[in-house]
Amino acid sequence: MRSIDAIGTPALLLDLDILERNLARMAQRAATLGVLLRPHVKTHKCPEIGNLQLAAGAAGITVSTLYEAEVFADHGFDDITWAFPLIHSRIDDALALARRIKLGLVIDSPEALQALATRHQGPDPLRVWLKVDCGYHRAGVDPQSQQLVTLAGGITEAAGLAFAGILTHSGHAYHAYGDNERRAVAEQERSVMVSAAQRLRDGGIEVAEVSVGSTPAMTAAESLDGISEARPGNYAFYDYTQCVLGSCRPEDCAVSVLTSVVSRMPQHSIVDAGALAMSLDPGPDRDAAAMGPIYANDGSLDPELRLASVSQEHGIVNRALPVGTRLRIMPNHSCLTVACFDEYHVVRGGDLLHHWKVHRGR
Ligand SMILES: Cc1ncc(COP(=O)(O)O)c(C=O)c1O
Repeated sequence: MRSIDAIGTPALLLDLDILERNLARMAQRAATLGVLLRPHVKTHKCPEIGNLQLAAGAAGITVSTLYEAEVFADHGFDDITWAFPLIHSRIDDALALARRIKLGLVIDSPEALQALATRHQGPDPLRVWLKVDCGYHRAGVDPQSQQLVTLAGGITEAAGLAFAGILTHSGHAYHAYGDNERRAVAEQERSVMVSAAQRLRDGGIEVAEVSVGSTPAMTAAESLDGISEARPGNYAFYDYTQCVLGSCRPEDCAVSVLTSVVSRMPQHSIVDAGALAMSLDPGPDRDAAAMGPIYANDGSLDPELRLASVSQEHGIVNRALPVGTRLRIMPNHSCLTVACFDEYHVVRGGDLLHHWKVHRGR
């Protein structure tokens, strides 16, 4: 077994103890709130981690790209929602995958409905979700609009399509700081979706499922009455942003970037973790944006040290440190940081246990 000290940098470290704890805690939360858990695997892009989520009780998975859906299907995952507005140029590939596994597709426009209704052929109905805008205003139909009813009715009536239900994402929970604000967003998401489902049911449309989810909302929600499933993703790893929002504590962050000082200047050091290791996510500290806090030797965050800025491969640390010093950086946004790497170095304690591939692609 190799030790962490032997790992070449830059490297993505995954702490298995923390990951397992995070997965168990969210599985418990979903069970307590009475919803199925369908984790979003865009955070980790890693079938080994998806299998841990299924073992912890997840009912299926969510992906954001068709490539992720195909990779996970190739690894035996057979119940996948592609929670991204349908990409018309990928419909044939999506339909081919839907013949192999239970695949849910998401639409929020008449054009997408029309494209699916005309292109899908075959004996098995295609599962189609209608995306609803619960207040994030990124995508989805207005829950008060006539379009909600028209599109849900259109999916229900189209030959070959099966209306899976309505789905939303409370991305605006990323602007909610502290338990009370996140709880308020979670409740808004819940109540908007329950009302939208009721409107459809009152109009005679059967709504089998109501799907919500973001990590900041899921970690704060008090009730998910009327909701059938939740799709948080980031909770597997958490990150500095989630710490500031109050979704987690620093000791819950499961991934970090191991880096080394390669150059010492009078006022700062250069490390081998730049934008192509950390991403360019500026993090939640709007007044003093930084690219990631740095751990002290005892595993806490060092209040003095930080990754101040990045260029492509260079990271600038705000202190002059000896060349060769090894540091660990907490990502501002773990989903984007992970997507910069080809593999995880999976560690427990000081030991390197596994290399797990990050399946990047679209
Ligand atoms: C459609 C959709 N569902 C679920 C999620 C999961 O959210 P989070 O990573 O906050 O848990 C996302 C994240 O972007 C998303 O876009």
